[in-house]
Amino acid sequence: MMEITAKFNKAFKEANESQHRYKLLLGSAGSGKSVNVAQDFILKLSRPEYAGCSLLVVRNTEVSHINSTFAELNGAIDRMGLRPFWESRLQPLSLRNTVTGNHIIFRGANDAKAIERLKSVTVPGLGKLVWVWVEESTEIKQSDLDTIDDRLRGKLPDNHYFQITMSFNPTNASHWLKSAFWDYESDDIFKLKTTYLDNRFIDDAFKKRLERLKEFDPERYEVYALGNWGATGGIIFQNVQFGDYARMEFEDYSIGCDFGFTHATVVLLIGWCDGAPYIIREVYATDITTDEIIELCDKADIPKDVLMACDSAEPDRILSLKRAGYRAFPVKKEKNSIKNQISWLKNRCIYVDGRCAHTMKEIQSYKWRKCPTSGEYTDEPVKINDDCMAALRYSCELQRKAAKIQSIPKEALGIW
Ligand SMILES: Nc1ncnc2c1ncn2[C@@H]1O[C@H](COP(=O)(O)OP(=O)(O)OP(=O)(O)O)[C@@H](O)[C@H]1O
Ligand SMILES: [Mg+2]
Repeated sequence: MMEITAKFNKAFKEANESQHRYKLLLGSAGSGKSVNVAQDFILKLSRPEYAGCSLLVVRNTEVSHINSTFAELNGAIDRMGLRPFWESRLQPLSLRNTVTGNHIIFRGANDAKAIERLKSVTVPGLGKLVWVWVEESTEIKQSDLDTIDDRLRGKLPDNHYFQITMSFNPTNASHWLKSAFWDYESDDIFKLKTTYLDNRFIDDAFKKRLERLKEFDPERYEVYALGNWGATGGIIFQNVQFGDYARMEFEDYSIGCDFGFTHATVVLLIGWCDGAPYIIREVYATDITTDEIIELCDKADIPKDVLMACDSAEPDRILSLKRAGYRAFPVKKEKNSIKNQISWLKNRCIYVDGRCAHTMKEIQSYKWRKCPTSGEYTDEPVKINDDCMAALRYSCELQRKAAKIQSIPKEALGIW
């Protein structure tokens, strides 16, 4: 029996034990993600109980594997004294454990052909593809991940599990990885954030280099030293959570509706719980007549017993909705109403169900307008791509007004 000498950073212990379908390892530069993942897979793939499991490693480009993931996995084999049990090939790039027969194969996600190959990847006679490691996963498209995700299906022995591991620096706060995974609440997702301070093997020179970034490039410092999502300047709602709220019970409901002429018409159904709005259903369409709006609302099961707060600029459309059975009413425009509605919404968490695709996208890019002369942010939102946000603002009017009334001293209530 030979002795394996594996040294790990403590911060990754739970991650290495996790069997969630999606494992997210977000971190600063040098936090130890790549080394950890490489060591963990080499150990797992060497274990007899995981015989029949193979690993697919994905990066943006196929060529980038050789100096990164392939080198990292080979480094792990050598460091842990497992070289006698591993065959390493350059053509095609692959690794194979001679005892378990488990394979590691490498693919790029950047060109159509590579994606096709990914789709048709078979590991003939070598067991099932059960694990995927997407290294630097902010570099790949969401559709590429979906393709990979689709491949991990079928029946497995009881002690085997499908898993996609994603390791990355949190480059950009509007990235799909953030909304679709990092901010998404699901029992299928494991998340870990690490920084270089979690890595006991990092040298002082590296630390000093990172610290210097603070002065020269504060935005990069946030991402590469602190492991925080980058460049969120001017984003209005940072208080947002994405998740699956389909089975939740709510205390109350409301509906918001914004009519579009050249842009989109949006109807949002909101569930209320503990004073926070949950956007649970979305109707979104461009260039449609009022009859078509009604048809879409009917199809989406927008309830007819819930008050529907609408854009007041279109009284005819409101009337049509009312005739169709919806409890539509116009939202009064007051001085500063947009500002007031936004600041009310900023005071609570806004929950968005993952099925509301347009709202998810819009809410992450809803920004304050920058003054072109001073370069400072103003207190007005940018009026592009803001239809869902308008519907959201309307949908909260009754709750906002009710809260205001409640906060007025009792003795003053006589004047109402
Ligand atoms: N378990 C380990 N054993 C030995 N050295 C380690 C270990 N983990 C990390 N290191 C050292 O720390 C360095 C940085 O680790 P690693 O490359 O894994 O970080 P990372 O989080 O992937 O960084 P980046 O975000 O820049 O890709 C490695 O090059 C290696 O020298
Ligand atoms: Mg790395």
